Amino acid sequence: MNFASDNVAPVPQEILEAIAVANQSSAMPYGADDMTALALRRFRELFECDLEMIAVATGTAANALALACICPPWGEIYCHADAHITENECGAPEFFTNGAKLVHIQGEHGKITPEGLSRTLALTAPGNPQKTQPAALSLSQATECGTLYQPDEIRTLTEIAHAHGLKVHMDGARFANAVATLATAPSEITWEAGVDVLSFGATKNGAMAAEAVLFFDPALASEAAFRRKRGGHLFSKMRFLSAQLAASLADGRWLSWANQANLMAERMVSGLLRVPGTRLLYPREANEVFVTVPEGVADGLEAEGIGFYRWGGAGSSDLRFVTNWGTKPEDVDYLVDRALMHAARGGRG
Ligand SMILES: Cc1ncc(COP(=O)(O)O)c(C=O)c1O
Repeated sequence: MNFASDNVAPVPQEILEAIAVANQSSAMPYGADDMTALALRRFRELFECDLEMIAVATGTAANALALACICPPWGEIYCHADAHITENECGAPEFFTNGAKLVHIQGEHGKITPEGLSRTLALTAPGNPQKTQPAALSLSQATECGTLYQPDEIRTLTEIAHAHGLKVHMDGARFANAVATLATAPSEITWEAGVDVLSFGATKNGAMAAEAVLFFDPALASEAAFRRKRGGHLFSKMRFLSAQLAASLADGRWLSWANQANLMAERMVSGLLRVPGTRLLYPREANEVFVTVPEGVADGLEAEGIGFYRWGGAGSSDLRFVTNWGTKPEDVDYLVDRALMHAARGGRG
């Protein structure tokens, strides 16, 4: 029983089969293969535009490469203070951009507000060689708090960003979960809403290891191939990454998997809120559940070997639970039962 991350999930059979199919014959290396062409075609169909794509194996590489393509070494990248790019990527964006500066914007529930962005931009000094220069905005969708930007919220933020000459990146490690909840066309919360480049996550949504950087303005992709190679992410057997992406997109699987994860998260919320003294830290909008639990519950669950993450640090009762494509109702119900039991014992073992 493990709700520590979406990455604890196994890989769906459909993806394993796609890898096996790609393994039946030889293919040209470094992305000059049919699987990579198929993945690109499917992304273009899904997003209804002539995007460019590079596939990589981690979300960190996707984000760092995407940002390097839209931000010079002397640029500033505006992101939420909790953003994965600033908190959990070991300086990869700074490294891949050759030194760009990540500027934090605070905001409730992991979201940047138009006021917060405008306030930050008002402090910049475009053209002043003493200062780093406004270059990019990065939004996480879903956010690190499991919340979502509505399409009009994205549009408002990208309009401010573009008016200041910024390019806009979206960290879509959980993009599928966002689309599943919002029930929008993927285009509506990306290029139609002013997003220039998207890190499309597949790994948290079932893939073994595959992410795609999607450039909605193909001109922005001009350096991507070189940066990917220098960054060590031009896989010689690229077809195996591309097979995962193509299989995820076939028959709307990516959305069904994300839907399942989201449904299970909602079931968990309903269940955990029955535990006296439990409350949500953030609204549940995707596949992550953030709760404060009463004394004894976290320790009790942990002692049983149930996996979760202490959001507030060691010993904290602020917890994060993540569901995934393979989470079953009985998994969630078991967790809720155990939480009820530990709450009733009130930490008495
Ligand atoms: C918001 C967000 N972005 C990106 C990533 C990708 O990280 P990784 O490099 O571990 O694939 C994660 C994974 O935790 C994430 O939560």
